[in-house]
This record gives sequence, C-alpha cells and structure tokens, in this order.
Amino acid sequence: MTQSRSRVELMHGVNLDMLGRRDPAHYGTLTLAELERQVRGFAQALGLELACFQTNSEAEFVEHLHGLSGSADGLLLNPGAWTHYAWSIHDALEIAALPAVEVHLSAIDAREEWRRVSVIRDLCLATVSGQGLEGYREALVRLSKELDG
Ligand code: DQA
Repeated sequence: MTQSRSRVELMHGVNLDMLGRRDPAHYGTLTLAELERQVRGFAQALGLELACFQTNSEAEFVEHLHGLSGSADGLLLNPGAWTHYAWSIHDALEIAALPAVEVHLSAIDAREEWRRVSVIRDLCLATVSGQGLEGYREALVRLSKELDG
C-alpha cells in the first residue's frame, strides 16, 4: 500500500554523474542511471515514489531544494564533495524543512580528514555511509519510518 506521505526526492550532487568512471574501491561500478534504477526499485518495495535529480552546479542544487516544498515529502541526499564545505546547501536544506537522510557510497568517516566533516549532518535524521548501493535502501527504510509515523 502507498503511504500518504510517500514522495521522496533523491538528490545527487557534484561528480556523482561520473559514477562508473570513479574509483570503484570507494564508489563501486554502477553508473548513476543504474543506481537510480535500483533505488527506484527499493522505493517501490516500500510503497514510496522516487524522483531523481543530479547537478554539478551548487546554485542549481540549492534552487532545487528551494522548489521542493509541496512536491516532496522527504529527501535522500548525497551532495558529493559539497557535503564537506557547502554551507549554502546546509541553509537551503533548512529552508526546505523536509525530513532528510544523508547517504554516501563510501565510508566518509574512514577516509581523509576533510571528508569527516558533514555540513548537513545536523539537519538529517540519519547518515548512512560506506555501504554502497545497499546504503540507499537503508536510508529509504529510515525515511519511510519517519514518513509513516
Ligand atoms: C561521496 C563522498 C564524498 O566525499 C565525495 O566527494 C563524493 C561522493 C560518496 O558518496 O561516498 O563525491 O559523497
């Protein structure tokens, strides 16, 4: 059965359109299109509808967040490297005021020092990292519980 609050926006940021060409040790071998297809399947199994967005422009990412109210009930966010320094995205996420889960393919807490900082973590229900594609399923389950409650 479809939940009443069921519209999830999956937002990928900078360089994530290059999945499939990035270090497979950190990011696996799926392209972004393949990853999105799989995540759509996870969402469907949970009774959620998924819309996908990716950009390499920080301004577009921020503007997309501004435009979400009324069209999404929750967010899955992987902002890529912006995660670590883009306070504009922190503020836009605060404005969006939607339940959000942060997700990263790689284990950001076990890599370089600068990747351990996340400027969006404090606004997210949870952070899932280091689990590759499977992490997106976990993030959706977490979000789904929030939307259901
Ligand atoms: C990433 C981790 C970031 O540190 C990196 O800059 C990315 C991808 C991940 O999914 O593991 O582009 O967000």
